[in-house]
Amino acid sequence: MQNIIATKLAVTFNEVFKNTKDPLIVRSPGRVNIIGEHTDYNDGFVLPAAIDKAAYIAITLRDDDEIHLLAFDLNETFSTSLKDLKPVEDISWPNYILGAVAQFAKKNIPLKGFNAILSSDVPIGAGLSSSAAVECATVFALNTLLHTNFSKIEMVQMAQKAEHEYAGVMCGIMDQFASIMGKHNHVIKLDCRSLDYEYVPFKLDGIKILLLNTNVKHSLASSEYNTRRQECEKAVAWIQVFHPEVNSLRDVSEVMLDEYVLPKDKLIDQRSRFIVQEINRLQKGCEDLIKGDINALGKKMFATHDGLSNMYGVSCKELDYLVDFVRNNDTVIGARMMGGGFGGCTINLVKEDSIEQLLMQIQPAYEKATGLQLDYYIASIEDGTRIIK
Ligand code: GLA
Repeated sequence: MQNIIATKLAVTFNEVFKNTKDPLIVRSPGRVNIIGEHTDYNDGFVLPAAIDKAAYIAITLRDDDEIHLLAFDLNETFSTSLKDLKPVEDISWPNYILGAVAQFAKKNIPLKGFNAILSSDVPIGAGLSSSAAVECATVFALNTLLHTNFSKIEMVQMAQKAEHEYAGVMCGIMDQFASIMGKHNHVIKLDCRSLDYEYVPFKLDGIKILLLNTNVKHSLASSEYNTRRQECEKAVAWIQVFHPEVNSLRDVSEVMLDEYVLPKDKLIDQRSRFIVQEINRLQKGCEDLIKGDINALGKKMFATHDGLSNMYGVSCKELDYLVDFVRNNDTVIGARMMGGGFGGCTINLVKEDSIEQLLMQIQPAYEKATGLQLDYYIASIEDGTRIIK
């Protein structure tokens, strides 16, 4: 698959840009997250992994300041100049690339213009971090071509800033970390405060990761995401008055919420209580995984979904429908909505030999209930960002 894409991009590149030089091609994957949702920007833990769907960038530097981009799958082009580097308003995809370039500019790296083709098989708006994949591919490619020697962690942080500054989503660090740092058949237990991380083996005999895509792309996703972030910060500010040592919800207990947040605002209490519980749930879920108690982990995934839906308010009826459909199915070990929310995919741990039967039941039922098509992907866990050519 990778080789086919690399060849396709290299051929198109030479046709479009009439280049004599072969482009550098970098692949950067999308991600899943087993448990630990909306915890990253609260200094908590997450448990993501890079998957077998990825963004690819084919790129060569130019001798002038011009930037020429082609989005292969959309058949759209975009051109600008380094002198005019700023977020674009009417189309989104160039922003993930330009946002990455801007990080080099901010570090006063002498830049050059470039020609690039972008292609991706990470479904857009499915909660699989298609934008992070493009940001990471671009940062990684420029780091190589400009010989800037940024460490992987620095590149993760630059890619995250690209999302903040050029896509306007104040995301945490999980997506970019998973894309760059992913490891075949391992999930990453990441402490989003210290950025300490541990690879935990995730090779479950007879169990697969099944992603069910609601095909709902909620327009509220980015504005509500930023609102959730502010709601969490509000709870922290109220607690800090009495506990100046508290820096984030990572430092907060439910007793503190009972005392300082619940009496002030029920909604803020629900939001922050979910995060406090989720940080705790991930720690225990990770122990389950290490012990091989996958059923216990699965139960926690359902609990995470219920919290995201009822307390954190980031689910939607289509996501709830899919999780409720599999809740009492013995072949589904765990299921929940995944990523920012308001649409996208559910992640399901399913016994491999039952997937076909499950799909035969859930696809028509979902389509009947919602009028939407249900897409699915069986994800495998792969390595993070790599040069492929
Ligand atoms: C999006 C963000 C991540 C994270 C998740 C929710 O994917 O980009 O940083 O906050 O939502 O866990």
